[in-house]
Amino acid sequence: MTETLSRGAANQAGAHLNKDAYAQAQDFLPLKGLDHVEFWVGNARQAAHYFRALWGFTPIAYAGLETGIRDRTSYVMRQNDITIVLTGALSPEGEIAEHVHRHGDGVHDIAFAVDDVRSAWVETTKRGARSYLEFAEAGSDEDGTLRRSAIHTYGEVIHSFIDRSDFHGAFAPGFRKVKKPARAAGGLSLLEIDHCVGNVALGDMDKYVDYYRDVLGFAQLIHYDDKVIHTEYSALMSKVMTNGNGRVKFPINEPAPAKKKSQIQEFLDYYLDAGTQHIALRTEDIVGTVRALRENGVEFLGMPHAYYETLADRVGDVGVPIETLEELGIEADRDEEGYLLQIFTRPIQDRPTFFFEIIERHGSRGFGVGNFKALFEAIEIEQARRGNL
Ligand code: FE2
Repeated sequence: MTETLSRGAANQAGAHLNKDAYAQAQDFLPLKGLDHVEFWVGNARQAAHYFRALWGFTPIAYAGLETGIRDRTSYVMRQNDITIVLTGALSPEGEIAEHVHRHGDGVHDIAFAVDDVRSAWVETTKRGARSYLEFAEAGSDEDGTLRRSAIHTYGEVIHSFIDRSDFHGAFAPGFRKVKKPARAAGGLSLLEIDHCVGNVALGDMDKYVDYYRDVLGFAQLIHYDDKVIHTEYSALMSKVMTNGNGRVKFPINEPAPAKKKSQIQEFLDYYLDAGTQHIALRTEDIVGTVRALRENGVEFLGMPHAYYETLADRVGDVGVPIETLEELGIEADRDEEGYLLQIFTRPIQDRPTFFFEIIERHGSRGFGVGNFKALFEAIEIEQARRGNL
């Protein structure tokens, strides 16, 4: 065990864990957790089928022409504690159509659950946040009142603050419950959002680290420098911000100068702005979940055989045979607190931008730094195929 620990610790060179981060975070809002993530997409109806038939999400609510909403269509998809909203525009004008035109499909809103949306807006804008939506009685209907306010963060992404305490409907005013949802894919157990990663331009990482510290009261949990996150060709830097209860974790990446183009720069070139790079979904059955996702046609990054040849030496026993990890393409990493299993999809839309991660944690609060090099080499192979390395 000691040997495994020292191997784990050796993996972490260049990774700086701040064990007091949760205590240092000043949750003056406070944030109870994530309420939902909203994507703005080119075709919400088809995206909803993708999330249902491949990812096992159940459509629970709908808004559109039939519910009196004239400019957009939204589907609310749920699996356990994960709520994803898919919204598309019904005309070429307006912020949704413009967002999709510029960025392709992508994350618009990472929304927080709070008790008091007015104070969340006042406290964050007082500390320097740019307002997106001043406190609003975001609508009432026979289901009650949903309160909402919102601020800007990196790129065109916003953070909404949502208070559902006086609302009893399916999702929000203007939405109706989906009474007989089509059957969602089975065999998946995605439980909650583990972290949401933002890609920002070279030189902007610290600006957004400061933003999450000063405006939202987060603390820095981990700092990965470009010594640890680099390959022969490309590099990046990353800092992980957390709120006080640890339920909201936002790594912020920026490209670092290197011989060839960083994967972060490829994202920025296609998204044309800072944006959300990936969202990690936590499971307690990564083997079953990834098997089901693969059968359903979800595509993952491939890891070379060589990665698995040395894996047992690096991570010790992780409860799953190495052959099974290799068969499914799952990676493993260990640090002084425990281990984790993880896997990354290919980008889920036409542009090489947003993707998902699946993660199973056993004590580790890390992000798989021991896999970064192998992983980034795998990404570079795909970048080269796209003519972008
Ligand atoms: Fe991640």
